[in-house]
Amino acid sequence: MNAPQVGDAFGEMIKDAYAVRTGIGPRPLAGGRIPRPVIEIIERDDGLINGAPADHYLGEPAEWQPHDHRALRLVRGAVLDIGAGAGRTALELQRRGAAVTGLDISRGAIEVARKRGLRDTVLATVDEYAARAEARYDTFLLLGNNLGLLESRDRAPVLLDALATLANPGARIIGHGTDPYRTTDPVHLAYHQLNRERGRLGGQLRLRIRYRLLASAWFDYLVCSVDELVSLLDGTPWRLARIDDTDHPYYLAVLELRRERGRPGR
Ligand SMILES: C[S@@+](CC[C@H](N)C(=O)[O-])C[C@H]1O[C@@H](n2cnc3c(N)ncnc32)[C@H](O)[C@@H]1O
Repeated sequence: MNAPQVGDAFGEMIKDAYAVRTGIGPRPLAGGRIPRPVIEIIERDDGLINGAPADHYLGEPAEWQPHDHRALRLVRGAVLDIGAGAGRTALELQRRGAAVTGLDISRGAIEVARKRGLRDTVLATVDEYAARAEARYDTFLLLGNNLGLLESRDRAPVLLDALATLANPGARIIGHGTDPYRTTDPVHLAYHQLNRERGRLGGQLRLRIRYRLLASAWFDYLVCSVDELVSLLDGTPWRLARIDDTDHPYYLAVLELRRERGRPGR
């Protein structure tokens, strides 16, 4: 059996989801005839496989969850939408007249975001962008569960430092997360336990995306509780200003840049 080729599985999936939603471009067909729904397949390193329709990445505001609307109400100034995907939230901000940049590591996702009209895009990691960008931002968005991009105890302070480099004074991060521990599913509970035994945070997911013949590289995606988030901020340039957990177990976290850096010498 051939192992899947490592590539932009997320981007290829988004391109097909865009073709299915809009009818623009070749659409995936089942049996060569019937349009096939595009499913995001997520593989976890304990063997768990989940599938969900990918179409929500292209959702218009009327189709969004309430927390997405509340998140955009917290936006001010110049915005960097991190892991912007197909441009769902960045496009709406642009429509409202905000100065917004959509950043993503997926070439296919950026391609779709641009086709949909997003003008300012960056194909890079945050670290790469922080090392070269002259632009500075007032709001950083980590929506669609993208607090997960904090990845791990080791990685979170590095990402938060890079964001501080890109920040104007008074900047904020608006992040969407999920408390992983409000579950009774034995498969998830066993995974949290396995993670703790190997020195990881319980909700530090090791994942890869599969689409057709492609797989992404394996990556860590952090699903953490609010308490864990607060402990990850310790010693970083950011502090928790507010939590909105109206839709628990989902939450919106607003992090604000400290006036004085928490880490001497950084
Ligand atoms: C769960 S999707 C969320 C997309 C979008 N924010 C939304 O709400 O529709 C995660 C996105 O983050 C991007 N991503 C993953 N790792 C990244 C990284 N290290 N830096 C920037 N973007 C990343 C993926 O390519 C994908 O577009």
